[in-house]
Amino acid sequence: MKVAVLISGRGSNLQALIDAAEAPYWTPEIVLVLSNVADAQGLERAEKAGIPTAVINHKDFQDRETFDAAMTDAIEASGAELVCLAGFMRLLSTPFIKHWKNRLINIHPSRLPAFKGLDVHQRVLDAGEKITGCTVHFVRPEMDTGPIIIQASVPVHDGDDADTLAARVLEQEHRIYPQAVRMIAEGRVTVGGDQALIDGKILYPNE
Ligand code: GRF
Repeated sequence: MKVAVLISGRGSNLQALIDAAEAPYWTPEIVLVLSNVADAQGLERAEKAGIPTAVINHKDFQDRETFDAAMTDAIEASGAELVCLAGFMRLLSTPFIKHWKNRLINIHPSRLPAFKGLDVHQRVLDAGEKITGCTVHFVRPEMDTGPIIIQASVPVHDGDDADTLAARVLEQEHRIYPQAVRMIAEGRVTVGGDQALIDGKILYPNE
């Protein structure tokens, strides 16, 4: 299955997807890494791995819809069948999300539906949570919603700050994102009633 990865920065989740190709029976192929930021570190990771890259700067477009349409054109030209958001820091327009419905996934650093949005780890600490985690989900127009494909739980330790907690969560992001992509590539993930099913079973009910 051909995959496009959309990034804006560091690209450590992209790296996890690149590295996953070393595993036996890994079938997805990253055919495009697309960034809206010209100096995103993730672009270097892609180039090092010999993956085609493109930069589409949102500032070159008059509105979100036109920018998103340019991205759709580039993704379609690459032949990608699945689009992975990996630290892509632009809100996407509803037409884009509808166009890629059930072919567009995101990784979020909390156990959704808890702690949607930005600045997640500090908010988790401020709320006194003992457990947090991360989620891979299909994207729907409302931010950080959509059928949940896989989640991981991560303990919050006494003395954690946002950085130490983020690092612990990130380790699990790097584990579950490739796992989700692999399951989709293997045809094990379906969506029914806006609920993701793995091998026909609901593993993570969307509350
Ligand atoms: C990750 O924490 C991811 O959950 C969030 O943005 C961050 C991206 O990090 N959506 P990276 O660019 O993959 O290193």
